[in-house]
Amino acid sequence: LFAGAADFLRPASTLAELPPMDGVEIAFAGRSNVGKSSLVNALTGRNTLARTSHTPGRTQQLNFFSIGGRFTLVDMPGYGYAAVEKAKVAAWTDLIHNYLKGRANLARVFVLIDSRHGLKAIDTDVLDGLDKAAVSYQVVLTKGDALKKGEVEARIRGIQAAIAKRPAAYPEVLLTSSRDDQGIAELRTSIARLLAE
Ligand code: GTP
Ligand code: MG
Repeated sequence: LFAGAADFLRPASTLAELPPMDGVEIAFAGRSNVGKSSLVNALTGRNTLARTSHTPGRTQQLNFFSIGGRFTLVDMPGYGYAAVEKAKVAAWTDLIHNYLKGRANLARVFVLIDSRHGLKAIDTDVLDGLDKAAVSYQVVLTKGDALKKGEVEARIRGIQAAIAKRPAAYPEVLLTSSRDDQGIAELRTSIARLLAE
């Protein structure tokens, strides 16, 4: 599925700039710096496809990537703290809300959570919004390489318990690392299953 080309289609910083709603879209959301852009790169095996940075607030637009012309991945700006002006954050937050609520071809949102930190209040707010808008989502834990082995089970169980009664949540929680490719094959499988539906 990810063996072929992966191409940057276009950025969008306003609703008017969104590409037409054709083909399946899969979006990556999560707090600033959680590793969204890195995960897009790990999935596609292309290290410089999406731009990453140590500084939160790197991705400032919705970035659309075509995966072999078969479906589209969407790398989103992060929510929460970002080292950029408030007005900018407000504008992209507004765009994200509108995008998530009104995208008929959006098959799933992967909500990325830093495996070391777990769910924060702001993540819970996002999950509430997705549940309310009936947008299907799946939690993906990131930076699994940085989590102590002994903490993995408890972290996954904690998240599973937190999403168990959420109507739009997919029950499986994936543990990934873009650094050592942990869980990347599983995430690809999850996407393949989604496309086959
Ligand atoms: P914004 O676009 O600013 O919201 O950030 P983002 O969620 O796209 O995060 P990005 O992919 O830019 O990564 C942020 C930082 O986390 C960078 O310093 C990455 O090197 C680091 N990072 C990303 N994935 C991993 C991972 O799997 N393990 C570790 N240890 N660090 C990671
Ligand atoms: Mg990013």
